[in-house]
Order: sequence, then structure tokens, then C-alpha cells
Amino acid sequence: EKGNYRHFMQKEIFEQPTVVAQTLRSYLRPGEQRVALPQIDFDISAIDRITIVACGTSYYAGMVAKYWFEQFARVPVDIDFASEFRYRDPILTPGGLALFISQSGETADTLAALKHCKANGQVIASVVNVPTSSMARESDLLLPTHAGPEIGVASTKAFTCQLAVLAALAAHFAVKKGLMDREEEAEVVKHLLEAPASLNAALDHDDEIADMAHLIAPARDVLYLGRGADFPLALEGALKLKEISYIHAEGYASGEMKHGPIALIDDAVPVIVLAPSGPLFEKTVSNMQEVQARGGKVVLISDADGIAQAGEGCMAVIEMPKVHPLIAPLVYAVPVQLLAYHVAVAKGTDVDQPRNLAKSVTVE
Ligand code: F6R
Repeated sequence: EKGNYRHFMQKEIFEQPTVVAQTLRSYLRPGEQRVALPQIDFDISAIDRITIVACGTSYYAGMVAKYWFEQFARVPVDIDFASEFRYRDPILTPGGLALFISQSGETADTLAALKHCKANGQVIASVVNVPTSSMARESDLLLPTHAGPEIGVASTKAFTCQLAVLAALAAHFAVKKGLMDREEEAEVVKHLLEAPASLNAALDHDDEIADMAHLIAPARDVLYLGRGADFPLALEGALKLKEISYIHAEGYASGEMKHGPIALIDDAVPVIVLAPSGPLFEKTVSNMQEVQARGGKVVLISDADGIAQAGEGCMAVIEMPKVHPLIAPLVYAVPVQLLAYHVAVAKGTDVDQPRNLAKSVTVE
């Protein structure tokens, strides 16, 4: 039931603090400040390569996880769309872990890729929201998200729960590989436990985002920019906007703008910039200024420090709580979801059942 919400998507966006907390409970032991994974019957420290395979929004969660696995656990990560992976004759050497991410656990291409990896000697892990799904049944290591049923066709809460599980998994790998000491592990646990409150703080900006929807609704094209682990959020923001508001949108790595897409910039193309303050902030801001110098209309999503530093000259700003870079991808998911949601509502599209889309893609 939708309760007081107008749409399932809206309800599911607002459930995120609760379901992320619920999911984290299965992967963290707050008292001991430790990451705690389900019983694993293979040797993690022997895994020398991870192959991540998924589709759509779940793929973007995998892209974020690649940054985390490489940063914390120093394991090389290969990631591909399931529909590409299964037909490209990938090189799978013994000792690899294949990691599948799926809300439904039934996506045809992802399931086929899983079976291919299984037949080729990979250890199979899956992050799924439906614990009885085909992918769950085929896995050596099942890592469930506890998002509850997701009804809106556009994925929202499943995504942030996937990120929560993947962050814990990356930290666990780092611990097992001897690359993360107790103190660093305690830090990661602390930041992950801050995520639900930060998600709530992000949701507090709902009215403000609804008010700015009219700035985006008339656009024909919208660009999203981000860097590092927030680059996949730019892709996710663009996907959300396309699928429910039918506005053409693209996400780019900020540094790629000058290699082509900047040619699109004029005052009719809103550019949404995801720039939490942190090590990559200055770089992203300089890309943003290149856009502004060409008349581009920027919506800056950053925290108070970032907005104080770079907010001037933007068409609009959305202030996020100041968060540790580890949880920024979870928290910055909220404004991009809300922006897509309110633009779709402003345009009067069918938010929960966008045209041409199905919740679970069980055909190739
Ligand atoms: C986007 C969306 C889709 C799914 C994709 C994978 O909002 O919902 O892109 O993420 O179809 O679905 P699952 O995660 O069920 O494998």
C-alpha cells in the first residue's frame, strides 16, 4: 500500500533510511565496530579478481563497488553489462569471484551470465533483493538486501541497499586481505552507520527539489556530471530522469566533458553537478566552471562547504549533509531520485509504470 504517498516510487524513496539501516544490521556488528558477513566457505584472501555483472541501476551500484574494492581491498575488478558480458567470451581464470547484482534476481541476461561464470569455475556471489530468486538459488554466497518489495518500476531503495551491502563486502575483503586494520574497519563501520541519518537529512530537501522541478521539466536534454565513486550516480541520475520523465539525459564523468559533450552546452541544457566536498571537489568544480563559461545552467548538488565555495552563478543548488566520501554515493542517490520524481510529476507522466518498461526483465 502507498499509505500517505502519491506513488510507490515516492514511498520507496522515503523508506531508504529504514531499509538501509535494516540491511546494514545484517552486515555490521556495531558493538564490536566490525563488519560481519554471512558464513563464507571459501578463502577470500585467495580471490585475486572480481568480475561484476548486472544491468541498469544494479550495474551502477556495481560501478560504485568497483571503486571500493579497488580502494580498500586492492583487488582488480572487471565490470560489464550482463547483455555484453555473456556474449564476449570473457576471460575467467580459476580463483576469480563473479559478483551479480540484481533487485529481482531474475533478470534474464544477468542470470545467463551467472550460469556461464558457474560453468567456468568462478565462485558465485549475488546481491539480490528477492532471497527466493533464481540468482539467489544458484549462488555460493548469497548477500541479500533487505529493501522489502520494490513496486515502482524505477529502482530506488534497492539501489541504496545494494550499495550498503557492497560497501560492507569491500571492507570485509580488505580485512581478510590484511589491508584494513581494526581501527580502519571501525571507521568504515562508523561511517556506514551514519548513512541512515544522512539519508534522512537528504530527504529533508524534498520540498525544495519539488520547487525546482519546473526548471528541469521544460528541458529537452539534461546532463549529469560526477567524479570517482560519484560518477556512477551521474549515470543513475540520468537513467532515472529518462525512464520516468522521458527527458533525454546523459551522465558523464566530469573530466570527459571537454572531450566532446561540452559541445552540447547552451542555456537550454541544464547540467546537474554532483560534487560532495572531498578530494575530488576542486576538479569537478573546475569542470563545472567550464560549463558555466559557455552559458550552461548548473544545478549544484553539494554540501554547505561546497556550496559556499562554488554555488555562486549556479541556476540552483541542493544542499546535502556533509558526509564521509564512502557514503556519499548512498546519500547523493536521494536528490537525483527526488529530482527525477518531481520532474515526472510536473510533467504528469505515469511515475510507477513508465511506458515501455517492465519491473523484471526476464527476456533477453
Ligand atoms: C532502473 C531499473 C532497471 C533495473 C534493471 C535490472 O530504474 O529499475 O534499470 O535496475 O532492469 O534489474 P534487476 O536489478 O532486477 O536485475
